[in-house]
Amino acid sequence: MPDTEEKILDVALKVLISEGYADATTHRIAQEANVTEMTLLQTFQSKENLFREARKKNPNEFLKYWDEAYKSMPPWDLDHPQPTFQALINTNIPGRVLDIGCGRGENAIMLAMNNYDVTGIDLAEAAISSAKAKTIERHVKVNFVVGNVLQMDHLFMEGEFDVVIDSGLFHAIMDEERHVFALQVWRVLKTGGKYFMLCFSDKELSEDGPIKLSKTEIEHTFTPFFKIIDIKDTTFDTRFDPSSRKAYLLSAVKN
Ligand SMILES: C[S@@+](CC[C@H](N)C(=O)[O-])C[C@H]1O[C@@H](n2cnc3c(N)ncnc32)[C@H](O)[C@@H]1O
Repeated sequence: MPDTEEKILDVALKVLISEGYADATTHRIAQEANVTEMTLLQTFQSKENLFREARKKNPNEFLKYWDEAYKSMPPWDLDHPQPTFQALINTNIPGRVLDIGCGRGENAIMLAMNNYDVTGIDLAEAAISSAKAKTIERHVKVNFVVGNVLQMDHLFMEGEFDVVIDSGLFHAIMDEERHVFALQVWRVLKTGGKYFMLCFSDKELSEDGPIKLSKTEIEHTFTPFFKIIDIKDTTFDTRFDPSSRKAYLLSAVKN
């Protein structure tokens, strides 16, 4: 059985990288790994667990997923900002903002157009070059950089930003990297700086897409570093859904 598990995990990672979360089917994975769908689901209990394990087994290989995703239009890429972040504009005084996992930059550009001084960081070079092209088209200034959020100490100074926004990055971070992630976000913020994070919530019942997080998981990750203001029910728009997915918006302050 361990050999079969290894084989399934290899195939799952390959499928995940080539097709993305939303299209990867258990049927195709089972066929390629030469097992029944029943064996596959009995072993991992759900498609989400299977992908979690596959990513854990080979995190570096998984990083290719993000670049591959931007060869087409990934499900989260709306071509306009997430409405939840648009709604935040009126509640904050413009300052220096960092958009982590900024993708093609719609949220960052929207904030820059509303007088914020914005930096966006993303692993995927294709996403950053597309975001840079948009700033030229739209006559707006944003500092877009390619980089890993888990290594921001190489890129930004401690306390450099007033606000960090995160639209769909935290729910894509692996469980074992959450502590480093929270520490990196904490480090780049000023004392009293705010972190706004939008993720899929455990109230969302669809099987596809990234991990759905519970309020307890969010609190467990961020309370050591932040004072949590609230975790509100909201929605996360995707290209697939006429209606939005259920999500949480975390608002937290650096202690
Ligand atoms: C779900 S997408 C969201 C993109 C964007 N925020 C949006 O709302 O369109 C997650 C993004 O995080 C980026 N990403 C994933 N892991 C990362 C990491 N460790 N450091 C920087 N960016 C990362 C991916 O390349 C991808 O663009």
